[in-house]
Amino acid sequence: MSAIQTLATAHWDLQDLSAAQRAQALAVVEDGGVLCLSDLPLPGLEELRWLLDPKWADPRHKNISYEPADRSLRGLLGDAAVHEAAQRLVGGFHASAMELVAALAPGYAAGMRGAAASLRLQQVEGRTTSWRKDDSRLHIDAFPSRPNRGERILRVFRNINPNAKPRVWRVGEPFADVAQRFRSRVPPYRRWQAAALHRLGVTKSLRSPYDHIMMHLHDLMKADLDYQRNCPQQTVPFAPGSTWVCFSDQTSHAVMSGQFMLEQTLHPAVAVMQAPAKAPISVLEALWQRPLA
Ligand code: SIN
Ligand code: FE
Repeated sequence: MSAIQTLATAHWDLQDLSAAQRAQALAVVEDGGVLCLSDLPLPGLEELRWLLDPKWADPRHKNISYEPADRSLRGLLGDAAVHEAAQRLVGGFHASAMELVAALAPGYAAGMRGAAASLRLQQVEGRTTSWRKDDSRLHIDAFPSRPNRGERILRVFRNINPNAKPRVWRVGEPFADVAQRFRSRVPPYRRWQAAALHRLGVTKSLRSPYDHIMMHLHDLMKADLDYQRNCPQQTVPFAPGSTWVCFSDQTSHAVMSGQFMLEQTLHPAVAVMQAPAKAPISVLEALWQRPLA
């Protein structure tokens, strides 16, 4: 099963951990585990409590996203005061998450693309969506419209629930086991199909064999109800105030309940990883026995 490791640290820059402890924590994450940091401060939440209300979320967007480059917000309703407050909350979290990743994985700075942060105000329970978008089913993240050719999806999460409600995840089996299990059900890659998807605007660039396989693994996992019920898995509650880090393109995960979360996405290149052989693309290339990017 994928490892869950908790570290009690009160410093986003991990100053109380030795270099060896940091490298070990990074190894947990690169192995597809979840690193949970229990005591990191996020000041100012008390005054922004009024912002934790789904009424500010535009129902036409999946979540409220924050673009660090220009501090712009998408999917947020309300006036300038609401936007200013959300910028403070998400912007503060963004800065802290960047500090954490810089301390945990100093090597990533050499090849990491930044991405948006998000504020998620909706309650998880009772959401209705198609099976494919249903994140209460175990899955690995793969973007349908944005092929990434093996580039990683690293995410930092923070439960900011003010009412002591945990965010409850299920975490499944290691990526290599997922890939092994579903390999025979992934249809062959066809370049003309990928080209057609691109031409039709379904994808923003040409889907590589890697993206094709990852998309199918995502769908095969979610569509298989027997797998959902019976595969190796554990339930992991993340208490309010906890922060956790994982590679969501690798860690089999599902969200079962909770409300109010902050999230930061980053895209490290495989080449800057401590152990590039652990990356999904490396695992898949070994299984498929050919280059997939
Ligand atoms: C997901 O990435 O599948 C959802 C995570 C969450 O909402 O806690
Ligand atoms: Fe996900």
